[in-house]
Amino acid sequence: MDNTKLEDLYQTAKNWVYEAGEVIKRSFSNELNITYKSHYADLVTDMDKAIEKFFIDKIKKEYPDHEILGEEGYGDEVKDLDGTVWIIDPIDGTTNFVHQQNNFAISVGIFHNGEGKAAFIYDVVRNELFHCIKGNGLYLNEEKLPLLSEVTLDKAVIGLNATWITPNRKIDHHLLLPLVRKSRGTRSYGTAAIELAYVACGRLDAYMTMRLSPWDFAAGYILIQEAGGIISTMDGSKVKVLSKTSIFAAKPGLHQEILDTIHTGTPQDGE
Ligand code: IPD
Ligand code: CA
Ligand code: CA
Ligand code: CA
Repeated sequence: MDNTKLEDLYQTAKNWVYEAGEVIKRSFSNELNITYKSHYADLVTDMDKAIEKFFIDKIKKEYPDHEILGEEGYGDEVKDLDGTVWIIDPIDGTTNFVHQQNNFAISVGIFHNGEGKAAFIYDVVRNELFHCIKGNGLYLNEEKLPLLSEVTLDKAVIGLNATWITPNRKIDHHLLLPLVRKSRGTRSYGTAAIELAYVACGRLDAYMTMRLSPWDFAAGYILIQEAGGIISTMDGSKVKVLSKTSIFAAKPGLHQEILDTIHTGTPQDGE
C-alpha cells in the first residue's frame, strides 16, 4: 500500500471513529438492551452490536476487498493478516459502558500484509482519540506525543487487574506480588484498550493481563510500538495478533526489569 492510499484510509477510518463516537453519545439517553454472552459478567449491549455493524457497513461499501475481525462476530472469519485487515472492538469496556457510561473506548487497528499500519483508540466520553499512522508518531487528538522514555520499577505505575494476583489458572499469582510491592502503584481501568493507550502516552508505565482477544489489543499493539514502547506476551515472546494471548506492554527498560522480576525474582518477595 503506497503512502497516499494509506493516508486516505487513515483519514477515512478516523472520520468513521468520530462518527461512531457520536452515535454512542446520542445513545446515552436511550435505554440499553443488555444481554449476557458466556457468563454473568460477560455483557453485551445493542450498542456494541450496532457500532460493529456501523463499521462493517462502511468498510464493505468503501473497501470491498478488506477483511474485518470484530468482537461481536458480524465481520469475516479472518484466518491470516494477508491483504488489509481491520480488527475492531466496537466498545471495549462494556461493563464500564453499562455501569458508568464512561471509561470505555472504540478500538480499531488496521493491518496490511501482517504489519500494523494505523490505529485508533477513542475514549468517547473524554473526547480523547489516541491514533497513529505507522512511522508518523503517536497523536492524542491534534497533539503529537513524545517517544516513551525509560523508567525503573520503583517509579512505575502498572495497569494490573486484581484477578491476576488471586489464584488463577493462567499464572502463578505469587510471581506478580513483587510488582505490586515494588512499583509506585497499580491501577485497573476495566478497558484493555484504554490501558494500552495509557501505556502508549505515558500515563501508565506498563500494563499486563493474562488473557485478551485480538480486538482488545490490536490497536494498542500498533500504538505502543509507534510510541517506542514494547509489547509482548507475558513471557516476553512476540504477540500473535490473531490469537487469544497474554499481553505485557511497557516502556523500554522497564519491560525487561519486570520480566526479570517475574521470572527470576523470588516469588515470596511481595508477600
Ligand atoms: C474487556 C475489557 C477488559 C478486559 C477483558 C475484555 P470488552 O473487553 O477490555 O478490560 O479485562 O478481558 O474482554 O468485553 O469490554 O470489550
Ligand atoms: Ca465483550
Ligand atoms: Ca474488548
Ligand atoms: Ca467489546
